[in-house]
Amino acid sequence: MKFFVDTAEVDAIAELNDLGMVDGVTTNPSLIMKSGRDILEVTKEIAAMVEGPVSAEVVAMEYDEMIKEGRKLAKIADNIAVKVPLTWAGLKTCKTLSSEGTMVNVTLCFSANQALLAAKAGATFISPFIGRLDDLNLEGLDLIEDIRTIYDNYMFDTQILAASIRSVNHASECAKIGADVMTAPPEVIKKMANHVLTDKGLDAFMKDWAKTGQQIL
Ligand code: G3P
Repeated sequence: MKFFVDTAEVDAIAELNDLGMVDGVTTNPSLIMKSGRDILEVTKEIAAMVEGPVSAEVVAMEYDEMIKEGRKLAKIADNIAVKVPLTWAGLKTCKTLSSEGTMVNVTLCFSANQALLAAKAGATFISPFIGRLDDLNLEGLDLIEDIRTIYDNYMFDTQILAASIRSVNHASECAKIGADVMTAPPEVIKKMANHVLTDKGLDAFMKDWAKTGQQIL
């Protein structure tokens, strides 16, 4: 499973990128707002730092404007994936941009039918939001499973980019289901290294080591 980092914070991306943990980056208008940065500047900086796809989202609601914004964002770098919302205008924009050879990430997906439409419109990525379904007491992970089944049934190339990942459990379950990509905040990716038994075991080793009076260096 590829790891995308869901943030526009350049330092956090750089830290994980140095560890080889970053296969791509996703941003959205809320993450740009949180970063306090200019969308064109920060997207350019991230795209230069990371080899994989960097999603930058359009904010227009109508097709004509979406296309203009999408083309402008796509020009920032070769590894830009233009993110469009799962609306009819977004699907139409997806079709046009993907026919032009631009990667497109269709976002705000909350149903299997929406994912089916995005695949037919030529999306490179579909972004189903797990956490926001969980917020409504629905099973976000079930949606990932349903989309996996549908895409495999018909051999769609669209990659499932599991989004709105809020916990380490979401990450491991997505990997078990076979999501192609997960995008998670840097904190969640870092938490994946934690285990209480690792901490406990290390503590015991360090106590015993101190008793030996030895040093390695
Ligand atoms: O990639 C989409 C993601 O940013 C949404 O996450 O936690 O705001 O639902 P969240």
